[in-house]
Amino acid sequence: MHIPVLLKEVLKAFEGLSLKTYADLTLGAAGHAFAILEAHPEIECFIGLDQDPFALALAKAKLAPFGSKVQLFHSNFCHIKAIIKAQGPHFDGIFADLGVSSMQLDQAIRGMSFSKLGPLDMRMDPSDSLTAAEIINRYPEDKLSFIFREWGEEPAWRKAAKAVVEARKKKRFVTTLDLVEVLLKICIRKPGIHPLTRVFQGLRIATNKELDVLERLLEESDDLLAEGGRIAIISFHSLEDRLVKQKFRQKSLLKIITKKPLIAEDIEIALNPRSRSAKMRVAERIL
Ligand SMILES: C[S@@+](CC[C@H](N)C(=O)[O-])C[C@H]1O[C@@H](n2cnc3c(N)ncnc32)[C@H](O)[C@@H]1O
Repeated sequence: MHIPVLLKEVLKAFEGLSLKTYADLTLGAAGHAFAILEAHPEIECFIGLDQDPFALALAKAKLAPFGSKVQLFHSNFCHIKAIIKAQGPHFDGIFADLGVSSMQLDQAIRGMSFSKLGPLDMRMDPSDSLTAAEIINRYPEDKLSFIFREWGEEPAWRKAAKAVVEARKKKRFVTTLDLVEVLLKICIRKPGIHPLTRVFQGLRIATNKELDVLERLLEESDDLLAEGGRIAIISFHSLEDRLVKQKFRQKSLLKIITKKPLIAEDIEIALNPRSRSAKMRVAERIL
């Protein structure tokens, strides 16, 4: 089951605001969404998005008690503007909890975990055409190097990309474990983390175009908010956090509320190790 991270801090970020219109752009199992709807009975229009239809079905069941003020969409959050055109509002609150959910990691069939045998898939939205297998079997060595170096931050990126290109001449990569088998001895070991963590992260980012869509969302963030409205974003790695920090700074209509990102307290980390790398930044539209 997915435990919502930094829940106390998320509620605090929106405390005292009159949230007539609110958007949760990454519903997942709707833990944050449920808590916000409970804490803010004044919400009249709640828009919820997830690009994963399985997560959306879970969220729909969980949020059913809140009735027709909740409107859910199967969509990537980079299309939020197109969605709300029909709905109209500027939001008093916008929230995104980036990355994958525990459900996605736990289901071998999604191909996101290096410790589970599954298809080399990694798509959060199964209707997307690009899979991780496509990237691994087709992309030229320099593109693979880029993905492993820039998005995986894998020190052995060059050797890893070379090894993939050599191995696929003999046999197509089909499963997650095909990739683990080829790269296990090549990727650099670091205490406490699996050697394939970084390569899998890079590949997941590439498959889902995670930084591109985040950048597109952040570009529109000020325009999506009502005056006095707040946006809170939780990220799980430095590439995302850097992008959020930079884009919030560049927006003249946004005032940064969190000078430093909010992180989980020790007690939360002990109960939910996934929260260890979570960082939340909050900004407010001033005019
Ligand atoms: C970390 S989980 C969210 C957990 C949620 N806050 C909760 O309380 O259960 C991230 C969810 O966001 C979705 N997601 C990630 N990137 C997305 C994007 N660009 N557009 C729409 N949904 C996205 C994933 O499919 C996943 O279900």
